[in-house]
Amino acid sequence: MRWMVNGILLAAFAVLPSALGAQIGSAEYAARRDSLAARMGDGVLVAFGARTPVTDFGPPTQLPAFHYLTGFDEPDAAFVMVVRHGAATPVVYTTPIDPRVAMYYGRRPDSTAIRREFGLTARPFASLRADLDTLAGSGLAFFALADFEDADFARADSVTRGQLFMRAFQLAHAPLAVRNGHTLVNQLRARKSPAELALLRQAAAASVEGHKAAMRLAAPGLHEYDLQAALEYEFRRHGSSRPSYGSIVGSGENGTQLHYMLDRGPLNAGDLVVIDAAGEYDGYAADVTRTLPVSGHFTADQRTLYQLVRDAQEAAVRNAKPGMKFAAAQDSSVAVRARGLARLGLIESEDALYDPPGHPDCAQRPAVCRQVNVWTIHGISHGLGLAVHDPAQFYTGDGTVRPGDVFTVEPGIYVNTAFLDILPDTPRNRAFIAKVRPVAERLNHTGVRIEDDYIATATGLEWITPAPREIGEVEAAMSVARDTAGGRSRP
Ligand code: GLY
Ligand code: MN
Ligand code: MN
Repeated sequence: MRWMVNGILLAAFAVLPSALGAQIGSAEYAARRDSLAARMGDGVLVAFGARTPVTDFGPPTQLPAFHYLTGFDEPDAAFVMVVRHGAATPVVYTTPIDPRVAMYYGRRPDSTAIRREFGLTARPFASLRADLDTLAGSGLAFFALADFEDADFARADSVTRGQLFMRAFQLAHAPLAVRNGHTLVNQLRARKSPAELALLRQAAAASVEGHKAAMRLAAPGLHEYDLQAALEYEFRRHGSSRPSYGSIVGSGENGTQLHYMLDRGPLNAGDLVVIDAAGEYDGYAADVTRTLPVSGHFTADQRTLYQLVRDAQEAAVRNAKPGMKFAAAQDSSVAVRARGLARLGLIESEDALYDPPGHPDCAQRPAVCRQVNVWTIHGISHGLGLAVHDPAQFYTGDGTVRPGDVFTVEPGIYVNTAFLDILPDTPRNRAFIAKVRPVAERLNHTGVRIEDDYIATATGLEWITPAPREIGEVEAAMSVARDTAGGRSRP
């Protein structure tokens, strides 16, 4: 595997332009804008970038769609692209920083530097509204990119500067229609270019190093944060500027909570620890999960659950090749887990149903009422790119995986009797619970997730996160001599 990782690193370094250190050149950003212009037709696109953080002194991180179209990562900017007769005129609107404040927070590039580095015309942010008012009378269609921080929370994040600005603008020019520009930009973002693939491989390689370090270190007596620190240290050492999401290190019961991020519990002998952590590289996110036995060896029950998840992952990978429908991958991974969970006695049979909270119509939608869902709790994939949950081509259209798709495959099984305690009190649920509770109690607080990243190429799938994954490989990696970061011996 080692040669593969080195091969990836070498391939990625080969694409780095030398002078600016920029990973994606201004020509690629211009090509993206041209592709967007071709999809938009004549019209005006308005986008807002990230603001200077007002919550803490954290570094600003540019919003993915804004970065995708501009490469411009300074905060408090907007971007307007006017398309007329097929020709695009892009302008970035910037907020100057007071020279004295710049002594504290750093200078921002002026319009000459922006032209040179980004190939963009720059205008002051203060002119934005007047410029848009003029365009509103032009009869051109308007598109906006909302400035939510994360697409998953877009609806909850509705009072951003950009969204408030656009609402006021639209009201002032009623009945002006403003369309959602993300639909078009997401189509472009879904297919990764060779330069983007190189960055994703870099992010993946750094993340693999982090997981190997966690395997060398994990031992009873440490805490979740010891592993978090070891992971994030390796990410940085391998070129990653930050974790691509809050690192999840959940031991024992914490490993059964999908987005656990406190990372402060103890690592207890005999428990499993779920580690879902990865780094980003020049804005591109990896997303990797490994599940380790704290003591260095899986117990018989843990081995069974782990192998089930691993088999489910491989079934999905076999069914996620370019040209296949992704739904087949999801279905195959559920089928493997349903068979295994029935064998274990955690569900009554492969196809058995229960009554979920919320009382959906099980006759109409039997898939949401399958008992297997109680212990599997989430889907198995999402796209990867500038966001950790990025668009992929198989999300749209006919659901087919295509070259240029980059995505995770991440099945899990989580056993926590609390999942049974929240079920509605119905005859069907009472029978289900009575049957499976003893097994659930035996396996209680066991979470297993395995997550890897794949690139769909013209010839198949490229696995870009080759951290130890098979049971024997994980145990072998954990038995490697303690590294200098201070691992403890295991019983
Ligand atoms: N770590 C976020 C996810 O797996 O989707
Ligand atoms: Mn994921
Ligand atoms: Mn993950």
